[in-house]
Amino acid sequence: MAEEARLFSTSEATGHASRNDCWVVIHGKVFDVTKFLEDHPGGEDVLLHASASGDATEAFEDVGHSTSAISMMNSYLIGSIKDYVPPSSSKATTFGGNDPPPNLRGMPGKKEPPAPNTFLDFLLPLFVLGLAFAAWYYLTFIAKS
Ligand code: HEM
Repeated sequence: MAEEARLFSTSEATGHASRNDCWVVIHGKVFDVTKFLEDHPGGEDVLLHASASGDATEAFEDVGHSTSAISMMNSYLIGSIKDYVPPSSSKATTFGGNDPPPNLRGMPGKKEPPAPNTFLDFLLPLFVLGLAFAAWYYLTFIAKS
């Protein structure tokens, strides 16, 4: 894990959204992606746009970046945001083990994850089991006679 050298205030970390100086904030960490703009498989415009938006966490998560993309991020890490508060509708989790605990007090609209579809979750395996049992029964007792 790379050293998180600096702590930035939100205003320090934003305002770097040009081709010569592009930082993005993802999960409260600050990445200088200036040198990565040309090589980013998603294109430089998305990075510039995400940078200008202030917090790129949701945009980054929505793409569903691979684990290799996530491990690449360490090379661009330059610090983290002081007292980072994640975007309210974020399904975000934090990376790594040394994040400051996010301050969730006063966060509006903390969403519960949707309830799993218990009906299908329960019945489908039961159905498959029943089918397997029927096949075994047929092959063992009926087909042989
Ligand atoms: C340091 C930050 C970032 C790194 C290291 C990174 C790296 C990568 C990599 C390696 C890929 C190839 C696909 C994969 O392996 O997942 C990718 C694709 C992509 N990235 Fe990023 N990315 C970063 C930030 C962002 C941000 C902030 C956005 C904002 C929307 C973004 C949007 C995209 C898009 C749209 C694609 C293309 C997905 C596709 O074509 O399927 N990336 N990125």
